[in-house]
Amino acid sequence: MNDDSNSLVAQVGLEQLVQALPPDSRLPSYRQLQQRYRLSPATVQRMLADLARRGLVVTRPGSGTYTAPRRLATAPADVSWQTLALGSRASLGADLEQMIQPGPLDSISMSSGFLDEGLQPLGLLGAAAARAARRPQTWSRMPAQGVPELRALFASETGAAFTAQNVLITPGGQAALSAVFRHLCAPGDPVIMESPTYVGALAAARAAGLTLVPVAGDSQGIPPDALADALGRTGAKLVYLQPRYSNPTGAVLARDRRAAVLNSVAASGAFLLEDDWMRDFDLGPPSPAPLATIDDHGHVIYLRSVSKPVAAGLRVAGLAARGPALVRLRRGRISDDLFVAPILQHIALDVLTAPGWSRHLGLLRRTLRERRDAVVAAITAQLPDCRIDLVPSGGVHVWLKLPDTCAEASVVEKAAALGLSVSPGRISFPGEPPAPYLRISYGAADGTALVTGVRILADAIAASSS
Ligand SMILES: Cc1ncc(COP(=O)(O)O)c(C=O)c1O
Repeated sequence: MNDDSNSLVAQVGLEQLVQALPPDSRLPSYRQLQQRYRLSPATVQRMLADLARRGLVVTRPGSGTYTAPRRLATAPADVSWQTLALGSRASLGADLEQMIQPGPLDSISMSSGFLDEGLQPLGLLGAAAARAARRPQTWSRMPAQGVPELRALFASETGAAFTAQNVLITPGGQAALSAVFRHLCAPGDPVIMESPTYVGALAAARAAGLTLVPVAGDSQGIPPDALADALGRTGAKLVYLQPRYSNPTGAVLARDRRAAVLNSVAASGAFLLEDDWMRDFDLGPPSPAPLATIDDHGHVIYLRSVSKPVAAGLRVAGLAARGPALVRLRRGRISDDLFVAPILQHIALDVLTAPGWSRHLGLLRRTLRERRDAVVAAITAQLPDCRIDLVPSGGVHVWLKLPDTCAEASVVEKAAALGLSVSPGRISFPGEPPAPYLRISYGAADGTALVTGVRILADAIAASSS
């Protein structure tokens, strides 16, 4: 036998020996082990070092190698002191944490805004990742604002007033929301939000210590009069909106409201954070251009992420601003995490400029249109007591009103027990919800699964109604 095959046998033998000996027993000497297993000194040394790394033996210089001492059984750690040390911080609730958890593998997901693997451009991503990994710049320090070409691409989508200098790359849209709330506002400041709204925006604003000011939206987006009233009443300097296919309702800010909304914000000397998370998700005629394109004086801070049209794991977004707000955000973002991993930025740039990108978007829209139609048809047929006020012309969510007699939390729980995950409506409201709702997503399950899901939902609703 050569030293290699010997060492395999020896490794097993030595491990058995160590396990058989009581704690703190001296092992045979190096020389004895060499002779017993017919190994070179270097191999014996390597094997003992490996056992030491795994905590099975300890070396005492000048004395020899011993089996590890027995660890005294310890009582479970008492971390109760932390409750007092941390104090009260009601602002960090569990809603977003629960929503972002992937469900069991065999369950149907109608709760995620992220697309399933079948709708991710895996071919484009694989090729882009291989190319990005080979670029020497990928592993170096880089301008903190991000890869210039990617910033230029995002700027060109944002409006004529924006150049690459106006864009900061962030690790996803969520990080950008958090940066805006923390770096442009101080704890206690009011922030106006259309209600209902994105649970992650609520979580980030609460974590920043902001005071949420809800303004009820309708199927046309936020009503300009109500917005003007809230701005005047609270003196808020920040408004958060998703003018395109709002999460959760799917509403698009109507064309005849857009100028009035922007004028109200400008007249109050405030900022509008435009979260264009569904930029690529028109399922019918094109939706209006971003409000950023009609903003003359730097009121709009524009956000677009690639995690929805590409893949949840591609944590890249572009945040565009002008004037001193840009400087604050730039410095704030550097203080957050210096810069986004260049490899992700190069992959995003490569995918978004690949010849196959527009084909991918075409497939994505066709598939989502079919899924939306399937889920709406199934709801109409199987849930006659529920209501959809707006069949969305884009995006990935349907906002479903449950019968008033139905307990929302119970529906979610019973559906989960039957293998279906749906989002409770409650978490999308800054305050108390006016009625029971569910957010039904058609981005992460195919048409057949969606129809099965609605059938499960019908059972869960029946079992939760009084
Ligand atoms: C409205 C909205 N904005 C922003 C985000 C954040 O997305 P990401 O951090 O994946 O870019 C989400 C995620 O679901 C969202 O729904």
